[in-house]
Amino acid sequence: MYLTKEEEKLLNSDNETISKSMEILLALGRIYQAEKLIQISSAHISGISYQNIGETGLEWLESLNAKVVVKTTVNPAGMDLMRWKEMRINKEFYTKQMKIIRALEKIGAEISLTCTPYYLHKIRFGMHIAWAESSAIIYANSIVGARTNRESGISAIASAIIGKTPYYGLHIGENRAPNILIKVKDVNPSALGFYLGNILKFDQIPIFRFKRRLSDDELKLLGAGLAATGNTAIFHVENQTPEWNDFEMPKEKIEIDRVEIEYRCEPDLIVLGCPHLSKEELVQVLGLLQKENKKVKRDLWLFTSREVANKNKELIEKIESFNAKVFCDTCMVVSPVTEEYECIMVNSGKALTYLPKLRGVNVSFGNLEECVKAAFQ
Ligand code: F3S
Repeated sequence: MYLTKEEEKLLNSDNETISKSMEILLALGRIYQAEKLIQISSAHISGISYQNIGETGLEWLESLNAKVVVKTTVNPAGMDLMRWKEMRINKEFYTKQMKIIRALEKIGAEISLTCTPYYLHKIRFGMHIAWAESSAIIYANSIVGARTNRESGISAIASAIIGKTPYYGLHIGENRAPNILIKVKDVNPSALGFYLGNILKFDQIPIFRFKRRLSDDELKLLGAGLAATGNTAIFHVENQTPEWNDFEMPKEKIEIDRVEIEYRCEPDLIVLGCPHLSKEELVQVLGLLQKENKKVKRDLWLFTSREVANKNKELIEKIESFNAKVFCDTCMVVSPVTEEYECIMVNSGKALTYLPKLRGVNVSFGNLEECVKAAFQ
């Protein structure tokens, strides 16, 4: 792989964090036969919940001794930084999680604690970025037309410190072409993503033909499901996403009438916000709560970013007046507290995939409306 003089210097730097970061990028570049490194505009780091990375991850983060050189955001932590007691997080977990936050602060990362960094800082079409967090990656590639491969937490940190990423995969225009057309009659985006991620082959990039235009929030849920159950990091939607018309229509096609997901159990917790809720989704939830016009009977937890919550305080207050809780900085999958529940109802294909795997709980599935309704039963 070609390295500039400046990159050679970084590789031979006395600062171990810098030289190791270069080694990580070089190793990746060699595996994927990248010809060079390219400049990135931002990085997004995943895997920062103490619940997921434990002592080993904490020690590694604390050992980092260099600053990031591009805008760097981070994924949700294991707790709401302000309302952790209310979430029944214990002091020991709080202390460990805060050490991780401080280590990230030390390298200059922005403590955004969200999987929807695209609501915080606008990314643009064609921008090269190095993001971890599969749901954010697929959103950036598909809905915005920015360019990122599926980075791991470690390679995203290496890229943030060097400001570059190897030039391969989805950074190259021709690799973004769809190779399977999927015609869908009636769509529940989460269910469709969950189902298709399981059946698409490793290298398949879908282009969808829907009967109606989907909102960005619906596309967000579709992408999160696709990327959770499969390897997909980009999709296109006819007449909608920015690159859909840049390539020839694929010959291979499948038709899907409707996908139903039959995961049912009696929920003792209902959670929304995987990926983190947008303002529009919060407004939708409030509308559904107001329709019922009484307090929820079961635990209803919503997850959003601190940034979205801060900008919409009145909206959050109104939602919480129905006894629902709106937590920030964390989510149902990366927080240990969801393990205390028997059955969790979700509207997300990603939560449906990871809650049983990572938190060992049963899951029930419904759309947003069904989830809110279930909180009153
Ligand atoms: Fe985000 Fe947590 Fe889901 S990080 S995409 S809310 S699993």
